[in-house]
Amino acid sequence: MSQAPGSSGSAVGAVEKLLQLLGGKWLAAAISAAASLGIPEALAEGPLSLEALADRIACRPDALRRLLRVLLGEEVVRMNARGEFELAEMGELLRGDQLGALARFVGSPFGWDPWSALADSVRTGEAAFQKHHGLPLFDYLDHHAEQAHLYHAAIDAFSKNEARVLAETFDFSNVSRVADVGGGRGTLLVEVLSHWKHLTGVLLERPAAVEEARRAFAAAGIEDRCEARIGDFFEEVPEDADACVLMHIIHTWDDATAIDLLRRCGSAVGPDGTILIVEGVLVPDWRRDLTNLLDLEMLVLCGPGHERRKPEIRRLRTAAGLQLTETSPLTGGVRLFGARPRPDRKSSATR
Ligand SMILES: C[S@@+](CC[C@H](N)C(=O)[O-])C[C@H]1O[C@@H](n2cnc3c(N)ncnc32)[C@H](O)[C@@H]1O
Repeated sequence: MSQAPGSSGSAVGAVEKLLQLLGGKWLAAAISAAASLGIPEALAEGPLSLEALADRIACRPDALRRLLRVLLGEEVVRMNARGEFELAEMGELLRGDQLGALARFVGSPFGWDPWSALADSVRTGEAAFQKHHGLPLFDYLDHHAEQAHLYHAAIDAFSKNEARVLAETFDFSNVSRVADVGGGRGTLLVEVLSHWKHLTGVLLERPAAVEEARRAFAAAGIEDRCEARIGDFFEEVPEDADACVLMHIIHTWDDATAIDLLRRCGSAVGPDGTILIVEGVLVPDWRRDLTNLLDLEMLVLCGPGHERRKPEIRRLRTAAGLQLTETSPLTGGVRLFGARPRPDRKSSATR
């Protein structure tokens, strides 16, 4: 393995760096707490003194001061000339309708606690989440409405921008109906159907997300064109669509399961259909990268599920009888892979 960047300095430098890295736990917890306490929403209305902010969010001023000191150091908040606190750019992003939902999930006991068993996951390859909470992630969410809301809001915060870029950049003019398989709260269909008015859509999801998706479709005024179906994508994939989106789905599963799902989607859209795979792509070297970190999150949450490099995604696609039609970057390390069934492929799913 090549050396980590910056690790070649003096021993003092290395100690300093290691301590900073370990402090990442405290930083993530502090940022998550800021979101959970509603600091971004309170300060969005204007700058506040320590006492006024403490009063607004029902905290002890002396303890809040300690949290704010860290948030000042990380430029989440700043202090104005009157000594009041106001939101910096990252603080604005921490509002609940933006990345705040992700921050809340990161620090919630449900999302945070399984990380204490990361070493176990590395030893066994099994999901720390299941060991910790007693059920695989999505089964757990089926039985815990509050956590399901937290999880789906976090995923939405993460994938909202990708959905918008996909809607703006992919040419849907030759598509008539889009199936979003495992489409969460429906954000992708909201973006795509709002942009492309001729389209209809169908979301296939587990029960925990479907009600929220229906509300999102109604709020966006697309409920007449967009259906939300409860279902299990290992049992059925909508067969009445000519395009099928799998956004952040195949990274949840091992290769055999991912191939099976891709094959199933290829059969569902038929020989002239389109498959749109949206996934983070691992960089081909050891530099620090968000997708590498997300890959560890997948290990903790889903065990065998993992992020992939481009050649690994290509292998899955080929094994599922799909051929690449286009690929383009969406946001950060996330890419769109457009594919269609190979004319010579076998048409049935294996599972
Ligand atoms: C990582 S989330 C991605 C959500 C959405 N595609 C996005 O990118 O915002 C994975 C989704 O797959 C759904 N899911 C998991 N297993 C499923 C199954 N067997 N059938 C249908 N949906 C499933 C989960 O409920 C969850 O919403």
